[in-house]
Amino acid sequence: METSAFDIKKECAKEALAVIPNHSIIGLGGGSTISHLIHFIKEKDNFEVQVVTPSMQTKLLCLENGLDVLHTECVDHVDLAFDGCDQVDAQLCALKSGGGIHSLEKLIGSMADEYILLVDESKYVPALTFDQPVVLELLTEAMAYVRSRVEQLGGRPVMRRSAAKDGFTVTDNGHLLMDVSFDQVHDIRQLETNLQAIRGVLDTSLFVDVATKALIAGSSGMKWLNK
Ligand code: 5RP
Repeated sequence: METSAFDIKKECAKEALAVIPNHSIIGLGGGSTISHLIHFIKEKDNFEVQVVTPSMQTKLLCLENGLDVLHTECVDHVDLAFDGCDQVDAQLCALKSGGGIHSLEKLIGSMADEYILLVDESKYVPALTFDQPVVLELLTEAMAYVRSRVEQLGGRPVMRRSAAKDGFTVTDNGHLLMDVSFDQVHDIRQLETNLQAIRGVLDTSLFVDVATKALIAGSSGMKWLNK
């Protein structure tokens, strides 16, 4: 019988649990694999961790399960951080597009000794394909400026919209999100450097040299990818 995607994510979370030291400070991003991990942490006997998270959903789930959640602004070091992503490649470059919380995810990942991506094998590719846009979180006032700079870099920018604020999606930090599609990316590092350099951009959803490991789970088992 084929293993379901649900079970694969669960196995991935179980393997992740095994590398968390007792009494550590851990970062937890968002998504279904992280939700499994929260349940495993709760069930483990005599095991206590403190959590920082960029995600309101994860924070609520942690609190519902009795986990200790710290204020990120009071934390300067994280032992291990776990996160999902939309795609990760052999160099551990990753793209996160969905949630719009990438600036905080990257901050917590950067505070951590190890930033570990938990993915099922469908998200692993030899090199990022950019089928999905790179997301920029930006200052509202920088919208037109960032749009024109992104077009100069060959990107196709579209503001993310919802009913929230004048038709625009607003992040938890009160900023806007711009989805930028690229047809071809020859140099991921250079693209990230160029996007980061645009004044008004807080951060991008392209994670270059942030993840230190990825745990890739598939129907035939688990594989660790190291930096
Ligand atoms: C969104 C993300 C999420 O972390 C990711 O999609 C979660 O994936 P899963 O539910 O498979 O654990 O990066 O951009």
